[in-house]
Amino acid sequence: MNNLNNKKILLIICGGIAAYKSLEIIRLLKKSGVIIKTILTKNGSEFVTPLSITSLSQSKVYQDLFSLENEVEMDHITLSRWADLILIAPATANTISKLANGNSDDLASTVALASNKKIFIAPAMNVRMWEHNSTKENIDKLKTYNYKLIGPETGDMACGEYGEGKMSEPKDIVSELENYFKDLKNNNKLKAIVTAGPTNEYIDPVRFITNRSSGKQGYEIAKSLSKRGFDTTLISGPTNLKIDNDVKLIKVETAEEMFQATLKSLPADIAIFSAAVSDFKLKEISKTKIKSQDSLNLKFEKNIDILNYVSHHNSLRPKLVIGFAAETNNLKDYANKKLIEKNCDWIIANDVSNKKIGFYSDFNEVSIFYKNKKSNKLTYKHKSKISDEIVEKIIDHLN
Ligand code: CTP
Repeated sequence: MNNLNNKKILLIICGGIAAYKSLEIIRLLKKSGVIIKTILTKNGSEFVTPLSITSLSQSKVYQDLFSLENEVEMDHITLSRWADLILIAPATANTISKLANGNSDDLASTVALASNKKIFIAPAMNVRMWEHNSTKENIDKLKTYNYKLIGPETGDMACGEYGEGKMSEPKDIVSELENYFKDLKNNNKLKAIVTAGPTNEYIDPVRFITNRSSGKQGYEIAKSLSKRGFDTTLISGPTNLKIDNDVKLIKVETAEEMFQATLKSLPADIAIFSAAVSDFKLKEISKTKIKSQDSLNLKFEKNIDILNYVSHHNSLRPKLVIGFAAETNNLKDYANKKLIEKNCDWIIANDVSNKKIGFYSDFNEVSIFYKNKKSNKLTYKHKSKISDEIVEKIIDHLN
């Protein structure tokens, strides 16, 4: 099934050598039945001509912000509303900087700023420009503004250097767009909740006990779910992480707050419990700061097990309940035990005795344990890739 047929895509071509690849993007989109309009920036027109774009797209190329003809026919607001999706390819460091800072000094940046649609950007630039802190900050900002990043890739560059910054291949860009429309259609009615990060259990107003957890894997899972069209709520303990705007973020601190936020977010179709919830809380929290003393006698009581509560609930239990198990030994046995005792459909387990993976690392290696089939291993890779694979499996399971 072709999910791109009859979709309206506004392609913005900026000034970079990769602009020549945009012609191939137009060709592929046309082949899939997309209705294309194009904005060519002033710098973009140094690399490709309006004539070649029109010949391939069979429609007009927009170039000027202040054009009498455009104002009558289709002004910048109408153009941004017309599209089902906006693709900026190639997106240069300059355009990325303008979008991150809300500049609107040409037609492309004005349309992007005025848009209420999903905007995909396929960056293309020299590796040093891509790795520059200013570009990184701008990209981080754009992610929180709901922009979706495609690439860039690592490889030989037109300037002769090697590194990350190459624009993704046209076929890969088009396949990302196709996935976007496919997932919107299939998943947009499905709701997912994800718990992530540690919880803090207070001893007194300035001290707490907590668990080791950066929350990275849970945040990446929420991002992957949202990228694939799920209506996603992330319930997060204290972390320093950022999340895209299309994920609903509920910040909590204690296990009790996480539990209440989870109950409020249900019902859901899928629930993924990746949080490292503190098993214990203080029986009594001192209202004043405890002064230094030779010994301290603290009394603990068990926190509610959020996963266990939800997975055994008659009416609130989501169709798919996934728990996590971070283990230092006997991974398989403990994971299978949790699978049964916590009434999960899947347990995602990782070995946290390995320093290269797990806690605080950007990389992970996990095994997924199921009730009725053999476990799967997702080998060592970036946590974002592990999440994409987990979500891929979730979609396969739902289908
Ligand atoms: N979990 C939860 N609420 C708790 C404790 C755990 O929701 N109060 C969830 C975690 O988010 C995870 C799963 O239960 O998905 C397993 O957590 P883990 O800490 O590994 O399991 P425990 O039951 O605490 O077992 P143990 O610490 O003995 O390994």
